[in-house]
Amino acid sequence: MEHLIDIENISKEDILNIINLAKKFKEGAKTSDVTGRTLALMFYENSTRTRCSFEIAAKKLFMNVINFDAAHSSLSKGESLKDTIENLYFLGVNAVVIRHSLSGIINNVMRLVKYPIKFVNGGDGTHAHPSQALLDFYTMLEKMGSIENKKITIIGDVSHSRVAKSNIALLSKFGADIHLCAPSYLQFENLEEFKVNYHKDVKEAVEGANVVMVLRVQNERHEKEGYPDSSEYKRLYEIDTALLKQYADDNVILMHPGPANRNIEVSSELLDNIVGKTILEQAQNGVYVRMAVLNMLLGGKYAS
Ligand code: CP
Repeated sequence: MEHLIDIENISKEDILNIINLAKKFKEGAKTSDVTGRTLALMFYENSTRTRCSFEIAAKKLFMNVINFDAAHSSLSKGESLKDTIENLYFLGVNAVVIRHSLSGIINNVMRLVKYPIKFVNGGDGTHAHPSQALLDFYTMLEKMGSIENKKITIIGDVSHSRVAKSNIALLSKFGADIHLCAPSYLQFENLEEFKVNYHKDVKEAVEGANVVMVLRVQNERHEKEGYPDSSEYKRLYEIDTALLKQYADDNVILMHPGPANRNIEVSSELLDNIVGKTILEQAQNGVYVRMAVLNMLLGGKYAS
């Protein structure tokens, strides 16, 4: 694995290597493989979980971390992202995690940069969020052992979701039974390309589900303000305890990439009860998965 840009271009073997290494890190394994290497976090869009967990992951690996301040950088003087990254490389940066609102920008800049810096996609527009899909997969395996033939229902603002795209790519590689649920105006326009089941009705989508992954309504990416109408969306699509109890598998796992809109796509009461704790465990697992990603990209192979 040279870079982590999307899930489609990583092999099953590399995904399983990341998962296994993350497990070792979670069990307390230490490594000096990448000690002293330098990671720059370049976040042009807001983040809590991705940014903080990459920083904590790097520090647990004894790496140096630069929190690149996009708003006060020379980008404001017209410097390109390519020139910025090449300069960072010559300052000693070995890897960059980039989050940006433009889909595909990381692929584009990666092709332009002439030096061997490692790229990690921290979420680009509506395109991909590969480290999120990896930590989601890790969490599912930790809870269920395998995802083969498990009914995994992804519900919410599918059309704007890089998390949904990366999860579908990953879950398909490992034989999950994937179901999407959204109102038609928040569904993928090219749905037939995804080879998944589609439901408009939330009860049908949740029926017998082993995993219910709720997505955030991404108001900042909607062209029309106040659309979808929050109360209408909540009435039709909010996931709560009663719905899961009545329709989902008894051992259903609730997931959400965060941040969650409480009492819109998921009830506050559900988030705060024991079922909702998995969402915090997802965030925690992000640290170990991102340690594994950094270790693999920067040449470390084993955790002792
Ligand atoms: N899941 C996720 O990407 O969260 P942040 O936006 O807080 O990083």
